[in-house]
This record gives sequence, structure tokens and C-alpha cells, in this order.
Amino acid sequence: MFKEILSLAILAATQIATAADLPTISAVGSKFFYSNGTQYYIKGVAYQLTYQDPLVNETQCTLDASLMAELGANTIRVYHVDPEQDHDGCMSAFANVGIYLFVDLDTFDTQFNQSLPYWNQTQLSAFEAVLDTFHDYSNLAGVFVANEALTLLNGSDTAPFVKAAIRDVKAYRQSKGYRDIPIGYSAADIPSLRPMLQDYLACGSDPADAADFYSLNVYEWCGDSSFDGSGYSELVANSSGLQIPIFISETGCRLPKPRLFDDQDAIFGSDMNGTWSGAIIYEWIEETNDYGLISYGPTVDPQSNTAALDGFIRSGTPSPVSPDFTNLKNHWATLNPTGVALSVYSAQASSLKPIACPATTPNGWMVNPTIALPSLGETLDLAATSTGGIGGPPPTASAKKGAAVAMKPASMMMGGKEVATMGISLICVMLGFLFWL
Ligand SMILES: *[C@@H]1O[C@H](CO)[C@@H](O)[C@H](O)[C@H]1NC(C)=O
Ligand SMILES: *[C@@H]1O[C@H](CO)[C@@H](O)[C@H](O)[C@H]1NC(C)=O
Ligand SMILES: *[C@@H]1O[C@H](CO)[C@@H](O)[C@H](O)[C@H]1NC(C)=O
Ligand SMILES: *[C@@H]1O[C@H](CO)[C@@H](O)[C@H](O)[C@H]1NC(C)=O
Ligand SMILES: *[C@@H]1O[C@H](CO)[C@@H](O)[C@H](O)[C@H]1NC(C)=O
Ligand SMILES: *[C@@H]1O[C@H](CO)[C@@H](O)[C@H](O)[C@H]1NC(C)=O
Ligand SMILES: *[C@@H]1O[C@H](CO)[C@@H](O)[C@H](O)[C@H]1NC(C)=O
Repeated sequence: MFKEILSLAILAATQIATAADLPTISAVGSKFFYSNGTQYYIKGVAYQLTYQDPLVNETQCTLDASLMAELGANTIRVYHVDPEQDHDGCMSAFANVGIYLFVDLDTFDTQFNQSLPYWNQTQLSAFEAVLDTFHDYSNLAGVFVANEALTLLNGSDTAPFVKAAIRDVKAYRQSKGYRDIPIGYSAADIPSLRPMLQDYLACGSDPADAADFYSLNVYEWCGDSSFDGSGYSELVANSSGLQIPIFISETGCRLPKPRLFDDQDAIFGSDMNGTWSGAIIYEWIEETNDYGLISYGPTVDPQSNTAALDGFIRSGTPSPVSPDFTNLKNHWATLNPTGVALSVYSAQASSLKPIACPATTPNGWMVNPTIALPSLGETLDLAATSTGGIGGPPPTASAKKGAAVAMKPASMMMGGKEVATMGISLICVMLGFLFWL
């Protein structure tokens, strides 16, 4: 009887399906698959036009989706959304051209702070609201619980809080009966945290506590470089043995110009296509930080055009930034790894063992993996950390970015981007919060 009710419920659920249904994405072993059994490789673009939710204006989304399809993208990444808004029009606009979404669950006032990490019900409820809003779209590929929450080795005691968020959002996903939407983390590329942070989020005997995927924001391959010269070979070496999918959640050095995107050949070619699941290019819109693939027109005087915020038009018909857009498009057009079929891979996937939890090292990784994850409502106990609590020594408020990251300019970026100093970061957060309100 229960079975019958269940299949009726499933039937009812599938009949609500919208016109542009795409096969859903799931994480199996260390790869992503479409529900039709084909492996999914991410060819993505970071999409955040203003501080506000970019997935509410269907006209705008349709204009952008059309040019993204021409670029060869199959995925966007969005950093800040408002779960109260209606996203049907935009999600259809993207689904109609086969584009999937990775969305950050956190926003300006719910993100982790490595100076004083905590994980509480206010954050969880906000994350749940985003999941509630997006779970039913077939083209939701996955969600991030945080972006670059840790940027310092001695900020490593934030990692248990990130992992607690993964645990609780996964439990919520199960409790609501949502499909197994992949839940993971987008890391800053900090060599001193490699590979411990990745391994820590993936490790453990209980899959309910572990990330479904891991991803890195990588700005290592700039201009004319190579798999070994860029450091990509080390990234790959560092992730061998990882039992969950891994991909690049931001890439694309700004300098030297023009942007060549030669790293795409390594990512989708034999160097990485057996182990990594693709890349997301930072970013769609040309703005002060100068990473844009498209622009909406020449810059204007921000005094006379307040919609432009800082002189950059943020809506309208997109035009490619030349030759960068075409350079990327030409690479992607030739790069179509077939991957492995799920039917072939699933036996191998089920025999994968979780990666070992990293041990603590003197003056290094400070998270003791034998200590339980924080519970909901817990704040880092700075006194306990100095006597062998869940983390390392008290972290500092002065965020210094890794070498690769420092190449990016300080600017008021829309997407929770790297900024050069904590001061600017704070201004960003405060400004963003004002806009968000
Ligand atoms: C599965 O769906 C993807 C995305 O639409 C498509 O590229 C692929 O060809 C499909 N595979 C099969 C076996 O139909
Ligand atoms: C992070 O926490 C520190 C310590 O409590 C605080 O001074 C700082 O303002 C916080 N940063 C943000 C962006 O909220
Ligand atoms: C979570 O922590 C934030 C920052 O301290 C606070 O504003 C908020 O009220 C807390 N939420 C709960 C439910 O305690
Ligand atoms: C991981 O990368 C670091 C530098 O980024 C390197 O020193 C280390 O040897 C690598 N570890 C493995 C297991 O490849
Ligand atoms: C939606 O986007 C279009 C195209 O940029 C624009 O013309 C229109 O004004 C926008 N609508 C709203 C409500 O902002
Ligand atoms: C990876 O790329 C190479 C070179 O294009 C190709 O021969 C190979 O089939 C690809 N591997 C997978 C798993 O798709
Ligand atoms: C944490 O690391 C930063 C950068 O390496 C350093 O400036 C700071 O003093 C360290 N803080 C502690 C408490 O060790």
C-alpha cells in the first residue's frame, strides 16, 4: 500500500513538470551525471549583474541566456539570490538553452566570518529558504554553502562550521524529500590549506556529514602557461583519491590581455577530464574589476545614470568583449569530453572509499578530525581552541590573500569576489547589505 501511495506521489510530482525540463544532475562517486546516464562537465560563467538577485527579470535572462548558448556555456553560477522572488521566468530562460545553475545559499548577512565562526539557525533557515525556492527546477545543478569562507591557514577552525552547514542542509534536503541536489563548497585557492580543507570536507565514515562536491576558485594559469607551469598539475595531484566530484568554481586571469583561456584545453582534455568536472569562468559582466566576457554598452557617468552604480551599465543587450569572448568560445567548441557512462561507472563508484581525514600538523592544519562537528547554534570557543578544542589558535581579522588571488584588483565586485583588503571587503558587505535591504 505504501508503495502504491509513493508511486502515485511520484507520478503527481512528475506531472507538475514545466515545459523546459532538463535531465537532473547528481553526484555519483567522483563525477557528476545527467539523469540520462551521460557524464556532466561544467562549462560555466559567473553571473551576477548587481548586488541583487539576477534571476528575476525574464527578459534580461533571455537576452543573456541566448548569448551564453552561443558561447557554448551549459552552466551559470550565481552568488546572491532573494528566495522571496519569483524565479520561474529566468530558470526557464536558462533551461530552454540547456543551461544549469549552481547557486550560493549564503548571502551578505548569512556568510561565514573566519574571524569569529559560528553556525546558527538564522543561517540555516536562510539557506533552507534558498533551497526551497530552487529545488524544483530541473536545471538546478548544485548549491554552495559558502564561497571562500577560509583564506588563512590559521582560519582553518572555520572548516568545521562549514562542514556543519553541509551536514544540516543535507539533512534538510532529505527531510523534505528533495532530490539529491549536490551540496558543496567553493574554496579560495590557498596553497597552505591544500589539500587539507578539501579532504576534511570530504572525509569521514558517514556520508551524511560530507560534502557532495568540492570546488576551487583558481587564478593560476595566466596568459601563455602550461599544465605543469601553471600549477594545475599540483591541483590534480592534490585531488587524486578524492571520492567526490571536484571542479573549478572560478577561473580566468584578467592579465595579460587578451585572455586566451588555454587552460580550458587542460581542464577538458586528457590532463584533467578523467578526474575534474569542468570550470566556471569569472565572469559574465564587464565591470570595474575587468573580468567581463560581455558588456551592456560603453561606461557612463555614474552621477547621471544611477542604475549603472559605478559607471558600468548592468542590463540590456549583451555584446561580446573582443577577442576574449571568441577565444573562450573557440576553445569550448572543440572540447567535448564524452566522459564515462553511468552504467559503466556506477560499480566503481560504489567501491570508492572516503578519503582519509587530514591529521593536524604543528603550525599547520589545526582541525582535529576526531572531535565532533559543531552543533547548530555553536560559536567558536576561542578559549577552547588554544587548549586543543575544535580549531587552531584564534584567527585574525586581517585577511591576506594567497599569491594567485592577489593578482585580482580590489574593487566593489558583485559576486562575493576576492578583494585585496578586509577594509574594502567590509565596505562591500555593508554596501551590499544596503542594496539587499
Ligand atoms: C543526456 O542529456 C544531456 C543534456 O541534455 C545531453 O547532452 C546528452 O546527450 C544526453 N545523453 C543521452 C544518452 O541522451
Ligand atoms: C567578523 O568577525 C569579527 C570579529 O567578531 C568582526 O570584527 C568583523 O566585523 C566581522 N566581519 C564581518 C564582515 O562581519
Ligand atoms: C546567529 O548569529 C547572528 C550573529 O551573531 C545573530 O545576529 C543571530 O541572531 C543569531 N541567530 C540565532 C537564532 O541565534
Ligand atoms: C599538494 O600541493 C602542494 C602545493 O600546492 C604540494 O606541496 C603537495 O606536495 C601536494 N600534495 C600532494 C599529495 O600531491
Ligand atoms: C528587465 O530587463 C529588460 C532588459 O534589460 C529591461 O528593459 C526591463 O526594464 C527590465 N525590467 C525590470 C522590471 O527591471
Ligand atoms: C579526454 O580528452 C581526450 C582528448 O581530447 C579524449 O581523447 C578523451 O576521450 C577524453 N576523456 C574522457 C573521459 O572523456
Ligand atoms: C594568522 O595568519 C596571519 C597571516 O599569516 C597572521 O598575520 C596572523 O598573525 C595569524 N594569527 C594568529 C593568531 O596566529
